[in-house]
Amino acid sequence: MRGGKIKIVIPENPDEFKAMEEIQKDAWNAEDITITPAHVLRAAQMANNCVYLAYVEDEPVGYVYGFFGFHDGKLYLHSHQVGVKRRYQNMGIGFLLKLKQREFAISRKIDLIRWTFDPLQSKNAYFNFAKLGAINREYIQNLYGEIKDELNHGIPTDRFYVEWYVFSQRVRDRVEKKVRPPSFENLEIPLATKTKKLKESMLVLGDYDTSLSEKLLAIEIPVNFTEMKNRDLKIAIDWRIKTRELFIKYFSRGYIVVDLIRSQDRKRCFYILCRESLEKILSENWWAW
Ligand SMILES: CC(C)(COP(=O)(O)OP(=O)(O)OC[C@H]1O[C@@H](n2cnc3c(N)ncnc32)[C@H](O)[C@@H]1OP(=O)(O)O)[C@@H](O)C(=O)NCCC(=O)NCCS
Repeated sequence: MRGGKIKIVIPENPDEFKAMEEIQKDAWNAEDITITPAHVLRAAQMANNCVYLAYVEDEPVGYVYGFFGFHDGKLYLHSHQVGVKRRYQNMGIGFLLKLKQREFAISRKIDLIRWTFDPLQSKNAYFNFAKLGAINREYIQNLYGEIKDELNHGIPTDRFYVEWYVFSQRVRDRVEKKVRPPSFENLEIPLATKTKKLKESMLVLGDYDTSLSEKLLAIEIPVNFTEMKNRDLKIAIDWRIKTRELFIKYFSRGYIVVDLIRSQDRKRCFYILCRESLEKILSENWWAW
């Protein structure tokens, strides 16, 4: 495909909704029972929720699906899924789908889009925080119970419930690519996690510190959690249990996840947590502070 034309449309005919089932099976390596069926996607779109399909040339390759939510007397958009077929990932298609979703919200004067994701999936984390400018201050334990797909099988489905303030300066800076986080080596931020590499190059989390109080702190996560899970479920579960405690403790003390940064060789990933008002985080380029 490389170099092929990407087009994003509102799906209209039954074949397009069927294609979204196929994209899910491929993107999540999911069993039929775990996917959102075509008829639900069709109904959601019919009721004017947010459903877009991405094509490369004539092939449907990705989609985004969200519906309206209601909290504290206000409407927001809950984005249930974004998925791109494996061979088309890392080409910016997911990013374009989220931009379309942002336009959908903006044109309806909805300022907040939320979605859940597994905080140990570093790619999703980088996508959500570094590229899109979402923030997170909520941790949910085992939200769905067990899900039978490659990403989730065998592990409690803990989730961040991110907030994407689509009108904010922070989000504008990120989606217009005006601000990108520095690499980890260029920062002096205290680390709440001590990790070590096992022989088989598996990253293990040893000691961790829940009592740091600096304005910024970092929490390391593995760079390929799905592969780790397939190779050694015990190590993966250990990551889940320890990072669960870390995030819950820091969120309870007012920290907000504001970024996911990588090492220069991209082999290590670190969350950046910040203790600052949400207003300030959303309105300023805080890497310039
Ligand atoms: C998450 C997903 C939708 C992103 O779509 P995409 O088209 O691959 O995303 P993009 O190409 O716009 O961005 C991916 C970024 O992740 C980075 N990335 C890739 N692997 C990474 C890793 N292991 N750790 C950190 N970052 C990683 C890429 O470098 C890229 O950033 P860049 O553009 O700055 O180079 C897609 O990968 C997917 O379908 N995943 C499976 C389903 C899923 O998890 N959906 C989301 C939860 S509902």
